[in-house]
Amino acid sequence: MEFKDIVMQRYATKQFDGRMVDEDKLFTLLDIIRHSPSAFNIQPWKIKVVSASRIKASLRPHANDQSQITTCSHLLVFCANMEFESVIDKVLGGMEQSGVPKAMVTQYGTMIKGYIGSMTPDHRMGFAREQIHIALANAVNGAKSLGFDSCPMGGFDPAAFSEVLFLPEEYVPVVLCAIGYAADTAPVKWRLPREEVFF
Ligand SMILES: Cc1cc2nc3c(=O)[nH]c(=O)nc-3n(C[C@H](O)[C@H](O)[C@H](O)COP(=O)(O)O)c2cc1C
Repeated sequence: MEFKDIVMQRYATKQFDGRMVDEDKLFTLLDIIRHSPSAFNIQPWKIKVVSASRIKASLRPHANDQSQITTCSHLLVFCANMEFESVIDKVLGGMEQSGVPKAMVTQYGTMIKGYIGSMTPDHRMGFAREQIHIALANAVNGAKSLGFDSCPMGGFDPAAFSEVLFLPEEYVPVVLCAIGYAADTAPVKWRLPREEVFF
């Protein structure tokens, strides 16, 4: 399928049929997500993959009782990883391993750490959210490209999700992506016309 058709045919599925996405396809999707771009390559995300029915059932009341939560195959809980520093060190290590000269890595590291160090917690959270929504876009289009469906979901209680999933404090839930096989049909896609969007 051409990318244009993937984008046009993808829709926010409200009801899945309960079939499981097989492991190969799931891991391909996770790789697509993992390769998303992020500012400074900080990759400020941790993504909890939930497939157990019991856990999905415990989460559903904390997501406005939306049926996607329990009918999907897997629920991806996109969390901000607020410990940017630990990720930065890994990124710098990766750069060095891939042959970037040490002096350049050190200079880059100093610059990024200075920038991160100057961020307030709110700024940090906002920064992580921006990057996570790029990964979310890859998740929904990636799912369609692999032959299954998805629903991006912001209607949930992050604190309750943290509790049910026993998330460490530094992983803050930001947005969900339910994936699986649709049991509903795509509604007519309505978007603002070109002239109202671009100027
Ligand atoms: C960040 C975000 C949060 C969303 N939250 C929900 C949600 O909680 N429940 C839901 O059914 N759809 C949710 N949606 C889906 C949107 O309502 C949907 O993408 C939009 O209406 C356009 O429809 P389409 O995706 O089917 O083309 C969300 C979409 C985004 C991008």
